Amino acid sequence: MKLHVFLVCLGLMSVAEARTFTVFNACPFTIWPAMFTDLTAGTAVPDFPTGWEADPMTSVSFTVPDNWTAGRIWGRRDCNFTITSGPTCLTGWCNGGLECDPHTGTGVPPASVAEWTLQGDMSQDFYDGASSFCFAILRCGLTKMPVSLVDGYDLPMMITNDVNCPTAGCAVDLGPICPSPIQGPFDSTGFPVGCSSACAANLDGDPTNSANCCSGSFDTAATCPSSGVEFYSFFKGNCPNTYAYAFDESSGTALWTCSSNLNADYTLTFCP
Ligand SMILES: *[C@@H]1O[C@H](CO)[C@@H](O)[C@H](O)[C@H]1NC(C)=O
Ligand SMILES: *[C@@H]1O[C@H](CO)[C@@H](O)[C@H](O)[C@H]1NC(C)=O
Repeated sequence: MKLHVFLVCLGLMSVAEARTFTVFNACPFTIWPAMFTDLTAGTAVPDFPTGWEADPMTSVSFTVPDNWTAGRIWGRRDCNFTITSGPTCLTGWCNGGLECDPHTGTGVPPASVAEWTLQGDMSQDFYDGASSFCFAILRCGLTKMPVSLVDGYDLPMMITNDVNCPTAGCAVDLGPICPSPIQGPFDSTGFPVGCSSACAANLDGDPTNSANCCSGSFDTAATCPSSGVEFYSFFKGNCPNTYAYAFDESSGTALWTCSSNLNADYTLTFCP
């Protein structure tokens, strides 16, 4: 009896202390997923390398502490890690090579990013799939990250879970339909594998004071409406459940929550 109670407690404890994340590459080509934790926001990190190769139709699962804070996973395309300096991938490359540097390996645009803060405010998990920027984490006050890190789009991705919380992300491949001013980069066959945000593409010429970047005199929700962000409606129209600009919480379909008590396990699928 005592042993039984003990084992039940042990079971509850392990449920409460970790989640299982699965990253599935459903793309018909190899990608190199990458993972980063903002260590200034929290020290809990997943029990897995910060970058790996994912062959088509393969998945990995790993344990994530249930208070993972300001974590992100994205996919990299067309990598070559024999390159020793500069971009190692056509999209989403990071400092460090295959495994991103834990402190500086935040990723370089354009890249679609999935972001999580587990056990955030009010015992909620927060998560989003960002079609254009790591805005959510920045703007939700969960932590601060420099604005010009990962943004734009390079792969369709969806975040699902096992407890019926909302699905985030976008299954549409935006590269081929991306408007030409923000389209690219292009692979060796000329195929567009990415689509930059107007901010990342620097369309208005001054990233430090930009309506597209919500920076400088445009750095509040009031001074940076989505109507002032070029190509916002392209991203949000094609990918309504993604985080498409700095203050996209107001759309009601950008940042998702799931009660932390449900101990959700999450699956991130590339090319769903
Ligand atoms: C998460 O839990 C661990 C272990 O209890 C703790 O050391 C850490 O400070 C917690 N918070 C974050 C954000 O890492
Ligand atoms: C990878 O990069 C190295 C160094 O630039 C180059 O010699 C090699 O051809 C590249 N490999 C592929 C498959 O592109």
